[in-house]
Parts: sequence; C-alpha cells; structure tokens
Amino acid sequence: MPKDKLIVALDVDNLEAADRIVAQLSDCVQTFKVGSQFFTATGPASVQLLREAKMEIFLDLKFHDIPNTVAGAVTSATQIGANMINMHASGGFEMMRAAREAAERKATDLGIPMPILLGVTILTSIDEAHFQRDFSTQRKLTDQVAYLAELSQESGLDGVVASPLEITLIRQVCGDDFVIVTPGIRPKWAATGDQRRIMTPAEAIAAGADFIVVGRPITASEAPQVATERILQEIE
Ligand code: C5P
Repeated sequence: MPKDKLIVALDVDNLEAADRIVAQLSDCVQTFKVGSQFFTATGPASVQLLREAKMEIFLDLKFHDIPNTVAGAVTSATQIGANMINMHASGGFEMMRAAREAAERKATDLGIPMPILLGVTILTSIDEAHFQRDFSTQRKLTDQVAYLAELSQESGLDGVVASPLEITLIRQVCGDDFVIVTPGIRPKWAATGDQRRIMTPAEAIAAGADFIVVGRPITASEAPQVATERILQEIE
C-alpha cells in the first residue's frame, strides 16, 4: 500500500507545529520522522505526541558513539516507542552489534515488536570530491557506501538510509531482504531546495526503495494533504 511506503519528515522546532501537521495528515500518513532538530527542541514529548496520534515513528538521531553508549541510546529509543532507529554505520561492527542486542533485549522485556534498525552509510550531502578530500582517501564514494551497507547487514541491522541513486548498488550487495529508506525525494512539481541528488517518489519506489522520506514538499506546502495525496497517487 502506498501509505506504508511514505515517511513524512517532521522538521519543526515545537510541539504545536507538529500537532498541526499531524492533525492535517492523520488520514493519509502512517509514519513520521523525528529528527535532531525536533527531538532536541522538545525531547521525548515529540515521540509521545505521535504515539498518541497512533502514528509510527522513525527516530532519526543517527547515533555514533562507543558501543556501550549507542546500546544505551537504542535501549532508550526502544523504550519511548520508536519503530525505526538509525545510527552511523561508520561507528563500526561492534557498535551496530551492540545496538542490535540492546534493541532485542528491550523489545523482549517490553513485549513489543523489534524496532527496525538502520545504518547511515555516507551522508547524501557529501559528494565524491568532498568524500575523497574529507576522508583523505582515493576510494570511490560508491564503494564505501556498498561496503558500509554490507557491514550494517553483517552486524545485524535491518537496512540502511541511502540516496535513491544508491538503491541499485545496495540491492546488488545486500539482496532483496534488506530495508532501504531514501530521502532526497522531490516530485516534479516541488522545489528542490538544498537537495541535490534527487529522484521523484515514483522513480525511487520503482528503483527498489522500501520507504521514501519526504519533508518540505509536504510540510512546506500550502495544502499538505493535497501534496501527500499527489505523492501517494504517484507511487501507487
Ligand atoms: O525536506 P526534505 O524532503 O529535504 O527532508 C528530508 C529529510 O531527510 C530531512 O529530515 C533530512 O534531514 C533527512 N535526510 C536527508 N538525507 C540523508 C539523511 C536524512 O535528507 N542522507
């Protein structure tokens, strides 16, 4: 169902703004993404607001720390009710393995389904030239993306967050039974803003994305519900 594939990024800085958007979209959206801006401004109340609205939550805090600390963060995220949680794959095998074990332990304790755990490979804001300069490497960015996706899978994560342009590559390396979540989505009729390497919703789904993340084309629209319906029709 198209609705199951859409995640709306709730990039706001207060609960009232979030509440307004969720109320407008509650009939056509099932999952919202809480990122670092909203979570830092409002804390677990952001997640609570969505739970009360019976929504699913992708907690996009991109954890990156020593294994023990990330395990603690993932335990807390599972406890407050996040359904999807992510972390930087460059934190390494041990970090991701510890995260997986922590989520399993907490979900079992609470008798709730396991959250979906996702690795972040290389941020989509980094292009080839910046990757090689910033990481002081001759390696190709796409090779690093493929490597980190595979490492995420070996560590026991369920999938990755990736640019829509990387879907085919990741499917080749990690197979079909691996979740791919893609931001950088722009319908033809929406402004691109600061996103560079983009695809339309229909293109990303056709390329093999399990979920697409859409923010401003919906939340900055004068008619968010109309924008959402258009996107859902496009991916149907
Ligand atoms: O408004 P827009 O559709 O560009 O929002 C995309 C969302 O996905 C933002 O919350 C952004 O932080 C997030 N994101 C991204 N690229 C990544 C990871 C996350 O755009 N690689």
